[in-house]
Amino acid sequence: MAVVTPIYLDNHSTTRVDPRVVDAMVPYFSTYYGNAASRTHVFGRLAEEAVDTARGQLAKAIGARTDKEIVLTSGATESDNLAIKGAAHMYRGKGDHLITVCTEHKAVLDAHHALEQEGFRVTFLPVQPNGLVDLTLLQAAITDQTILISIMAVNNEIGVVQPLAEIGKICKERGVLFFCDAAQGVGKIAIDVEAMGIDLLAFTAHKMYGPKGVGALWVRRKNPRVRLEPLFHGGGHERGLRSGTLAVPLIVAFGKAAGLATAEFAEETARIGALRQRLWDGLRANLAHIELNGDAVARAPGNLNVSFAYVEGESLLMGISDIAVSSGSACTSASLEPSYVLKALGVHDEMAHTSIRFGIGRFNTAEEIDYTVARVTEVVNRLREMSPLWEMVQEGIDLSTVNWTGH
Ligand SMILES: Cc1ncc(COP(=O)(O)O)c(C=O)c1O
Repeated sequence: MAVVTPIYLDNHSTTRVDPRVVDAMVPYFSTYYGNAASRTHVFGRLAEEAVDTARGQLAKAIGARTDKEIVLTSGATESDNLAIKGAAHMYRGKGDHLITVCTEHKAVLDAHHALEQEGFRVTFLPVQPNGLVDLTLLQAAITDQTILISIMAVNNEIGVVQPLAEIGKICKERGVLFFCDAAQGVGKIAIDVEAMGIDLLAFTAHKMYGPKGVGALWVRRKNPRVRLEPLFHGGGHERGLRSGTLAVPLIVAFGKAAGLATAEFAEETARIGALRQRLWDGLRANLAHIELNGDAVARAPGNLNVSFAYVEGESLLMGISDIAVSSGSACTSASLEPSYVLKALGVHDEMAHTSIRFGIGRFNTAEEIDYTVARVTEVVNRLREMSPLWEMVQEGIDLSTVNWTGH
């Protein structure tokens, strides 16, 4: 089958909406357009029923006992803020200390920075060179003032999967709430909030073949009953935790996307995992001096984050412009710094600048992966041929021993 370019390999950034999801949501724009809070008539009741069905699908996708624990939001950024600020404000009387990890998403990190401005104390744990949290450091960081620990399921850049069940166990033993940002996790790795001892969990539709602008926060109701201070005040929707008219079509779509993710989980994760292996095997067979960033095993199936030594990051990205990927280099982001996640792993700036995040998803094919391997190989080889450093490496010179200044 001929490959159609551009190829989309940026499924951590967002995903294409599954056509089955589009079909499910369309009637809720113009046929069943009622307000889910308007229970006095059939339009409202039909909307409410559809929302309840979606809640059930969402609860099931994460192993929740009841759909009453699902709070619908506008996405993971809002869910992150509601969980972190909501818990911090509610439990302020119990303690003023929070723990998170320096490789979390900006929504989590900046919510903590905002709380620091209010006087909360935050520990930002480092990670090991493979990107995983050191559980001994986590244990040691907990004090009798600690009220919340926030650790993500799957990292959005390097795809590493944190040991959630172990973290949940530590949190339970120490009586601290555990919030997990699972935006990159639901549908990609097995998530079970009960088995993993999670108390709050954020997820979002557009990372799992649903539309942008809708997400959820799961809030534990029993053992313990978690209470939050809302971010928004108004009509008292979502049990007072998130006022605002529900986005019925988006919620129906989110539910459908979660239903598909649950039903197709085993087949899909195996298929995507095999494509990722094909990509990595192909690149490794063709190119020397490439490095995998993040743990090789504790990793979501669709993620491959690789640094290519002795090439220039921006030239590499330009060279493969018919493949949509993301990079740890400054040129794709607003900031001039290389990725803070790669830096936290101890990856040097040069290697961070030449890193590519390949995000494989539901709609990718083996042909696209083969095209990508061939294209990246061709461009890396071409750039290396132009590089004086590469010439020195080929001559057997160890670059770390070179005195560049001549003194
Ligand atoms: C780990 C993680 N958390 C939070 C978010 C934010 O999600 P949303 O775009 O739904 O606000 C993202 C998406 O970029 C993410 O990858």
